[in-house]
Amino acid sequence: MPIYQTSGFVFDDPAVFADGMGRPDGAFVYGRLSNPTVRSLEEAVAGLEGGVGAVATGSGMGAINTVLLGLLRSGDHVIAQTALYGGTATVFKDLEERYGIAVTYVPEADPAAVRAAVRPETKLLYLETIANPMTQVADLPGMSAAAREAGLVTVVDNTFASPVLCRPIELGADVVVHSTTKYLSGHTDVLGGIAVSATDELHRRIWTYAIELGATADPFAAWLTLRGIQTLPLRMERHCSNTRLLATRLAEHPAVAAVHWPGLPSHPSYDVAAKLMPEFGGVFSFDLKGGRPAGETFMKAVKLALLAPSLGGVETLILHPATTSHRGLDAAGLAAAGIGEGTVRVAVGIEHHEDLWADFEQALDGLPQ
Ligand SMILES: Cc1ncc(COP(=O)(O)O)c(C=O)c1O
Repeated sequence: MPIYQTSGFVFDDPAVFADGMGRPDGAFVYGRLSNPTVRSLEEAVAGLEGGVGAVATGSGMGAINTVLLGLLRSGDHVIAQTALYGGTATVFKDLEERYGIAVTYVPEADPAAVRAAVRPETKLLYLETIANPMTQVADLPGMSAAAREAGLVTVVDNTFASPVLCRPIELGADVVVHSTTKYLSGHTDVLGGIAVSATDELHRRIWTYAIELGATADPFAAWLTLRGIQTLPLRMERHCSNTRLLATRLAEHPAVAAVHWPGLPSHPSYDVAAKLMPEFGGVFSFDLKGGRPAGETFMKAVKLALLAPSLGGVETLILHPATTSHRGLDAAGLAAAGIGEGTVRVAVGIEHHEDLWADFEQALDGLPQ
């Protein structure tokens, strides 16, 4: 697929021109409505997720805002899982303050809590397949079934699992969103997002609002993402096997108090995850016995792993949630989220696993046990 680096298209037939203005799969008219490179990405991801259509956006937050603002009105009520990506948590806070859209938070694997939270004005259930940084896994079939009984639309952020590990639409979701910045593009060189719909009606509503918002994707970004997707299954295999090795060895290391990864039987989501996914993802966190000073020492000492935000790329990235991704939470919020002063989050790359382990081992050397 070439990059159609153009903002608009030329027509011989006015009827074809008019047609393209009115539907997401019509003729290419204007870049904000659609573009051949962007549509190729949308078709690829809709296929991977088992949806009928997708709308690619300029970032993951673009996709999340498009879906929420496009499907909700002021006065509506939303049920969302408590453990949410920080940017999404901010959006829900804003929806409440700006538009009077109330949000009730429930645990990610408690369908009874969804049933109990439903009100006449409830419209939407919002979940994440795997949450950050404690990697809780949502009970997608149970939660979306409870939502369906009440006529809610279930939206799932599938960024951390990717369609290689989980296809939420097959498990009951109506809309799947991704930050394609992460695993789908995979090389830490592009920002993007996408919203995949299970029905034509939802797809049309989301596309219509994306155009209104001006959130649609750029062709070069779409091209880079398409290129990344070609190696997605191979990369996911390595992300997951590297993570298994690091998580297992760290769990036995004397300087480590706990490891949080749903592939370990000690993780509260292990049973749910084992039912939903063939492997358990490439992100985990661990708590150092030496608390914050140990976390700081570790982060300065790694050489191969990089101290940086984001995830899903070929490089291993580490960060300290309490001072970066979750700095908006006070001490009580951090404690409720299970994040400690000594918690380190690792987004595992595709380097050789023994190189990674050697790097972690030398960085742990001398830390309190
Ligand atoms: C789970 C999840 N959803 C959404 C986003 C937002 O994506 P973007 O940074 O592409 O806007 C992120 C970014 O880290 C994320 O981790």
